Amino acid sequence: MKKIAVLVSGGGTNLQALLDAMQEDRLGGGKIVLVISSRADAYALERAKKAGVETAVVSKKDWPDATERDTRLLELLAEHEIELVVLAGYLSILSPRVIEAYRNRIINIHPSLIPSFCGAGFYGLRVHEAVLEYGVKLTGATVHFVNEIPDGGAILLQKSVAVKNGDTPEILQKRVMEEAEWSLLPRAVALYCEDRITMVDGKAVITE
Ligand code: GRF
Repeated sequence: MKKIAVLVSGGGTNLQALLDAMQEDRLGGGKIVLVISSRADAYALERAKKAGVETAVVSKKDWPDATERDTRLLELLAEHEIELVVLAGYLSILSPRVIEAYRNRIINIHPSLIPSFCGAGFYGLRVHEAVLEYGVKLTGATVHFVNEIPDGGAILLQKSVAVKNGDTPEILQKRVMEEAEWSLLPRAVALYCEDRITMVDGKAVITE
C-alpha cells in the first residue's frame, strides 16, 4: 500500500475523482493519507475532510519565506511517510529542492495535450483561452511526472477531447475535466501504485 499526498489550491474536483477512486478500490491499492492546500479557503479541503483524510495548509501567507515553506512541506511529507505526491490543481511552483527529494514520485495533471499550451503562465482557464484563440480542433489532458521544467516532465498518460463550435473557455474546461482529467488522474495514480511505470532514457514506459 503506497501512501499518497494530494496538493491542491482550489475547488478540488480532481481530488474528488481520486477520493472516489480510492473508495471504489481503483487506485491500485494506493491510499490518500494527506491533502495539503496552498490556500486556507480552498474547497478541496472540505472534500478531504468529508472523506476523512487529514488536511494541512502551507500558504504563502503563513510561510512567506520560500525556503521555510519548502521545509514545512517536506516535513509534512516525511512525517506521513508519503511515497507519491499528486498535484491536483496546485497553483504554486515546487522548488527544485522538493522536486529532487521526490524525483519521479510527483505527478501533475495539466489540461492540454503537452507540449501544446503548457509551461509558465498556462494554468486554469488561460489554457483553454489559448486553445480557443489558436483554433485547434483537439485538446485534452496530460498526466506527467514533475521535473524542474514547468509541465516538462515525462508524460504518463494523455487523452484527447474535441473542441466544438461555440465553446467558451468555461465550457471547454468542463468538457476536458469530464472527458479526460477525472478518469486520467486516478488511472495514472493506479499505474504508479501498481509499479507499472518504468523510466527509460527519460521517458516513462507503461506496462498495462
Ligand atoms: C484542473 O483543470 C487541472 O488540470 C489544473 O487545475 C484544474 C484544477 O481543478 N491543473 P480542480 O481544483 O481539480 O477542480
